[in-house]
Amino acid sequence: MRLPYRHPLSIRSIREDDLPGIMAVEVDAYPFPWSEGLFRDCLAAGYDGWLVHERGDVVAYAIVMRVIDEAHLLNLCVAPHWQGQGIGRALIEWLKKQLSGAGAVSLWLEVRESNTVAQTLYEHSGFMRVGERKGYYPAGGGRENAHVMSLTLPVAD
Ligand SMILES: CC(C)(COP(=O)(O)OP(=O)(O)OC[C@H]1O[C@@H](n2cnc3c(N)ncnc32)[C@H](O)[C@@H]1OP(=O)(O)O)[C@@H](O)C(=O)NCCC(=O)NCCS
Repeated sequence: MRLPYRHPLSIRSIREDDLPGIMAVEVDAYPFPWSEGLFRDCLAAGYDGWLVHERGDVVAYAIVMRVIDEAHLLNLCVAPHWQGQGIGRALIEWLKKQLSGAGAVSLWLEVRESNTVAQTLYEHSGFMRVGERKGYYPAGGGRENAHVMSLTLPVAD
């Protein structure tokens, strides 16, 4: 499948043999990265894993848990050298359509209080801040709060 974006990028489900490439990006992109085991557990549990790639290179990925008609965005990451070019925005728009088509009515996520780039992306994509989880994330020398954000998904065509 193609990700609608100005440059041709492909998107497909994550496979287990993608995990080494994903982990190389994950440790580069996050101060507190997920472990490979956590990705493996998500895939084993049947969560949606999406990989955006260009000729075998990891460009971006997302992990989404769906429960009945609610979806939860657990991880969204654009490889550092691809950031700031609209790929995060394109991937969110693609996920919104894909999830609506799969019958989801809302999309939820947590984001670090300090992660203003991600908050901007989510706000510009239509998410509203609906709550806070105190001390949700590990942080240097303590814990950091999460903003809880949610979006009502468009009704599928
Ligand atoms: C957060 C992240 C997914 C954004 O993806 P991206 O492809 O870089 O973002 P985009 O280029 O699509 O930009 C989305 C919006 O964020 C804003 N933005 C992007 N980079 C920014 C920067 N460095 N500073 C300020 N704003 C920025 C853009 O202005 C854009 O707004 P617009 O829609 O009005 O143009 C990406 O930076 C990332 O993977 N970061 C590390 C992992 C992470 O924090 N994931 C989110 C966890 S909740």
